Amino acid sequence: MEERIITEEKLAGEDEIELNIRPEHIDEYIGQSDVKENIKVFIESAKIRDESLDHVLLYGPPGLGKTTLAHIIANELGSNIKMATGPSIEKTGDLAAILSSLEPGDVLFIDEIHRIPKYIEEILYPAMEDFSLDIIVGNDTSSRNIRIDLPPFTLVGATTRAGDLTSPLRDRFGIIAKLQYYNKEELTQIIKRTSKVLNVEIEDDAAKELASRSRGTPRIANRLFKRVRDFALVEGLGVIDKDITKKALDRLKVDSLGLDEVDHQLLKSIIYKFNGGPVGVESIASTIGEEVSTIEDVYEPFLLQNGLLKRTSRGRVVTKKGYEALGLDKTT
Ligand SMILES: Nc1ncnc2c1ncn2[C@@H]1O[C@H](COP(=O)(O)OP(=O)(O)OP(=O)(O)O)[C@@H](O)[C@H]1O
Ligand SMILES: [Mg+2]
Repeated sequence: MEERIITEEKLAGEDEIELNIRPEHIDEYIGQSDVKENIKVFIESAKIRDESLDHVLLYGPPGLGKTTLAHIIANELGSNIKMATGPSIEKTGDLAAILSSLEPGDVLFIDEIHRIPKYIEEILYPAMEDFSLDIIVGNDTSSRNIRIDLPPFTLVGATTRAGDLTSPLRDRFGIIAKLQYYNKEELTQIIKRTSKVLNVEIEDDAAKELASRSRGTPRIANRLFKRVRDFALVEGLGVIDKDITKKALDRLKVDSLGLDEVDHQLLKSIIYKFNGGPVGVESIASTIGEEVSTIEDVYEPFLLQNGLLKRTSRGRVVTKKGYEALGLDKTT
C-alpha cells in the first residue's frame, strides 16, 4: 500500500521536520490538560525534593505527542535525555550498556517499550525500583552475579499498546498517562502555532477546516498543513485560506471527517463483503491486504473513537454513522 498522507504514523524523513515544530516547554504543549497539569506538579515536587522524577509511562495512539512530552519532561527537569527504542534492544547487554551510561537525574526515554523481549525487560525491574543493575559475568563454567549501583534516573516509556506491557513492568511506573485524541479547538491552536513557527499565514476558518480533517492527531494536522501550504504557494495567493484548504484536501483525498481512501476501503469492505458485519478483524485484514496489528493500532482507533465502527463480541460492525460517512444508508 502506498504511503497515506493521513496516517498517524511517522513518514520517512519526517523526524527532522517534527523537531522544528515540536514545542519545548510544557506551557506550549497544547491540550491533554489533565496529563499536563499533573505532570507539572510531579516535576515541581521532584525538584523541591531534589530527587529524580518517578518513572513515567505515556500511552496512546501514534502522533498524539508522546515523544514530544518526553522531551518536554526532560527539558522542564533540566535533565539530559537519552533515547532508545524497544526494537533496538536485542540483547541484555544492549540494555545494560544504556543503563550504565546514565548520569544522575537523566531521563531515559524508551519508545515502543512494549517491544522489549521479556527476558531482557527483567533487567529493568531492579533498575527502576532500586537503581541497580544485576548482571551475570563470566562464562558457563564460572559465572557470578554482580550488582552495580546506578544513579537515580527517570525512565519515560512510550507505547501505543499499553495492553501488551507485562504487569511487572507496568507496576513499576509511578506515573501512567494516557494521551487522548485532540478536539477541534486544540488542533486549531496547534495549526496556528505551526503556522507561526513555519512563518506561513493561515486564516482562521482555514485552520478550523484543517483541524476538523486531522483525525484528532497533531502529527496529521502538521503534515496536512504543509501540504496545504504547498497548494497555497503554487496555486493560491500564498496565504492559506479556506478555499485553497478545501481544494488541497480534496486533491489529497482527505474527506470532511478526515477519512482517506484506506478508511473508505476498510469500511466498504465490511459493508459490501460482510454485509456491514459483524466480522472478525482477521477477515478484514485479509480482505484489504493489511496486517491485523496495523488495523488495530493505526486504522481502527479513530473509526472506533468516532463511532463509525463498533467492536462487538462477534466482530466489527459498521455503524449508521459509518454508512453515512460514505454517503450510504444503513438499511438492514
Ligand atoms: N500537545 C501538542 N502541542 C503541540 N504540538 C504537538 C503536541 N503533541 C504533538 N505535537 C506535534 O505532533 C508531532 C507528533 O508528535 P510525537 O512525535 O510526539 O507523537 P508520538 O505520540 O510520539 O507518536 P509515535 O507513537 O508515532 O511515536 C510533533 O512533531 C509535534 O510537533
Ligand atoms: Mg514517538
